[in-house]
Amino acid sequence: MRAVDVIVRKRGGAELSREEIAFIVSGYVDGSLPEYQVSAWLMAVFFRGMTPRETADLTELMLHSGKVMNLAGLRDQNGRVGPFVDKHSTGGVGDKVSLILAPIVAACGVKVPMMSGRALGHTGGTLDKLESIPGYHTGLSEAEFRDFIAADGFAMTGQTAEIVPADKKLYALRDVTGTVESIPLITASILSKKVAEGSEALVFDVKCGPGAFMKSIEDAEALARSLVNTGTAMGKRIVGVITDMSEPLGAMVGNFFEIEESLDCLEGKGSADLMEVTMRLCAWMLVAGGIAKTVEEGLAACQAALASGKPRELFLANIARQGGDVQRFLALKGKYRSKYGRKLAAKDSGYITGIDAYKIGVAGVFLGVGRDKTTDPVYPDVGFIFRHKVGDWVKKGEVVAEVYGKDERSLEDSRELIESSLSIGPAKAAARPLIVKEITAL
Ligand code: URA
Repeated sequence: MRAVDVIVRKRGGAELSREEIAFIVSGYVDGSLPEYQVSAWLMAVFFRGMTPRETADLTELMLHSGKVMNLAGLRDQNGRVGPFVDKHSTGGVGDKVSLILAPIVAACGVKVPMMSGRALGHTGGTLDKLESIPGYHTGLSEAEFRDFIAADGFAMTGQTAEIVPADKKLYALRDVTGTVESIPLITASILSKKVAEGSEALVFDVKCGPGAFMKSIEDAEALARSLVNTGTAMGKRIVGVITDMSEPLGAMVGNFFEIEESLDCLEGKGSADLMEVTMRLCAWMLVAGGIAKTVEEGLAACQAALASGKPRELFLANIARQGGDVQRFLALKGKYRSKYGRKLAAKDSGYITGIDAYKIGVAGVFLGVGRDKTTDPVYPDVGFIFRHKVGDWVKKGEVVAEVYGKDERSLEDSRELIESSLSIGPAKAAARPLIVKEITAL
């Protein structure tokens, strides 16, 4: 087989065989194919797309380029095995759903083997948020990961180098060849990593809107359908929930700030938008895991669990289990704020009609919440605390948000972006549905 023939066939719109796709993937991973040929192939896929069968083949081939976790024999303290269900978000601003969701569904009997990522660009990262807790470590060994899931029902770790090495190479190449925004390539990249974690069912939160990777509902739906169809073809139970990401989710954006807000949510003090999205995804996880028959039944079980206080206990137990200092975390809560702070005040009286999530996310990079390059440092005590949300009426001069940065300069560099993220008008804007669409083959 010659790479050039596979490239030419894809360029012409042909459906490639599994062997042809394997030739490209394994050739790139083992170094026998040069980057220029793999780049050309990626660009051909970008323009010509892939059939569902090709996408499933690519996902499976990428999956088996590395280690696939097997959680099958893992028993909890009651001797029960599974169900193992994970949730993946395509990335948003103020998106701390994983932190709240994992203890809630664990309290309902679902095991959550959660492998998360770091902040990149305007979106936050679960690992950076967790590491803002003094002492907390996210680089768990496989044995620790398994033991902690058995003990608390969930554990939080990062992806190891052995999980889908093909994606590491291919994603880096896509990043510099303008081939990231391709539905089959995104599907294979996300799904191969998630299936490698060992979950039997997955719930995808496909974010949609200015603060998301997918800006339009059409693109978000195409990605959600592709994830559901490909994952289902691979024998997994998959749900895709499209959720709105126009405004930052919840009341806080920032690493420690979002941990703090997560605890508030588990104490019944969460903001309505964040709780609506979180509880819906929790309910779907119960359905995907076979614990609830319908999403309504799942919602009722999650609400009962939340009211029992068990998720809060599990949240704190996980912090201690992963090395975090619970007493220090509780002492810092409400006080861990950078000394470089300022207020965002309303320029007019009226209704808040928009808080642009993308602009807040980019401003967060200036402030030190997120990073442009994987090697940039992030800071725990910086970000935003919103006192108002879209739909609220504010008086001219009233504080809409507290802003904290890593230094004075960061506050200045982000000032214009933050000011322009806020829109105020005379009329209340119609509320946007937070749960835009749900796609499942269950
Ligand atoms: N996130 C991923 O993990 N892969 C993609 O291709 C895009 C977003």
